[in-house]
Amino acid sequence: METADDLEIFLIATPGLEAPLCAEALERGFAQARTVKGGVVCHGGWPEVWRANLELRGANKVLVRLGSFPAVHLAQLDKRARKFPWARYLRADVPVKVEASSRKSRIYHAGAARQRIERAISESLGAPISSEGTIRVLLRIEKDICTLSVDSSGEPLHKRGHKPAVAKAPMRETMAAMFLRECGFDGTEPVLDPMCGSGTFVIEAAEIALGLPPGRSRSFAFEKLAKFDHALWHNMQLGANAHETQLIFRGSDRNAGAIEASIANADEAGIGHVTRFQQYSVSDIKPPEGSTGLVIVNPPYGARIGDEKRLRSLYGSLGNVLIKRFKGWRVGIVTTTPGLARATRLPLLPPGPIVDHGGTKIRLYRTGPLE
Ligand SMILES: C[S@@+](CC[C@H](N)C(=O)[O-])C[C@H]1O[C@@H](n2cnc3c(N)ncnc32)[C@H](O)[C@@H]1O
Repeated sequence: METADDLEIFLIATPGLEAPLCAEALERGFAQARTVKGGVVCHGGWPEVWRANLELRGANKVLVRLGSFPAVHLAQLDKRARKFPWARYLRADVPVKVEASSRKSRIYHAGAARQRIERAISESLGAPISSEGTIRVLLRIEKDICTLSVDSSGEPLHKRGHKPAVAKAPMRETMAAMFLRECGFDGTEPVLDPMCGSGTFVIEAAEIALGLPPGRSRSFAFEKLAKFDHALWHNMQLGANAHETQLIFRGSDRNAGAIEASIANADEAGIGHVTRFQQYSVSDIKPPEGSTGLVIVNPPYGARIGDEKRLRSLYGSLGNVLIKRFKGWRVGIVTTTPGLARATRLPLLPPGPIVDHGGTKIRLYRTGPLE
């Protein structure tokens, strides 16, 4: 089992976006970050756990592994759970929710295993157990090894805490940030999203350019864990490396409600001074004056049979306007099928990995600078 200063930290990735999350974690100085199925593992103390929640744009959750032990029947699990040093991690006054899963193990009844953990926490620590608990403790049993983890994030991290308005079919912030990274965006070039919806790509890009940490506006479950140090956390938040940018990040959409939502979201995020949103149909977009940069867009996918045919002409107009007017710009398109991507007639590079967006399989299609 790890000591308090050498925790195994598991960053949950969007399936398919493990590699850019690992690159981000390494760039941010998370020790020994490496990709594993479903995420990235790194090591550190509690301050690293807090920093991962504050700074990493691509993690959906930050879990901390509390310990592992073998157990082949419920009585053994019960005994180990009662001896577990819960007070090192949890607070007696904060309600806990326990979730359990079991795979290829002699303890196959996840519900019964969950009850053993719940009873151990409530009887040995005194913390209340509730399905609405602030703190989520996870028990995973795999091949007779029980692993206990705690969710240090609480609400999923794509909820940045500064998005009052949501338009139709929004892209999750964590995914948008990783797609920007996959397009080579590092905050030093302008970005334009011509179908911006609620403005997710534009707002993530502006925040990256300004060096604003994604978790600056929200609270986290770790604030209610035993090892939380308020003063240290406050300093970490203040120490975040914000800077100015001369760049402007733009979005347009044909839908007036989308533009209103984007403006409200950018203002709430405190980045309205470096963003511009305008109501345009995609066929009317023009590149802004100044240096070239990145066009990134997720056009409508269409969920029903027959939609693809209808959408091809929209993708065709998008490609047409980009080829005609956006010389020197790179393009990133997030969509479902190769047919839709090809309908743009853009010179596409080999596509990125398949990414699971809540059950819909999507991919990033990129170009180099357009000639
Ligand atoms: C999948 S949503 C984009 C979601 C966005 N990335 C976000 O995170 O909220 C597609 C957007 O394309 C816009 N759209 C569809 N046809 C368009 C057109 N011809 N010109 C401009 N925008 C269009 C829709 O209004 C919608 O907001």
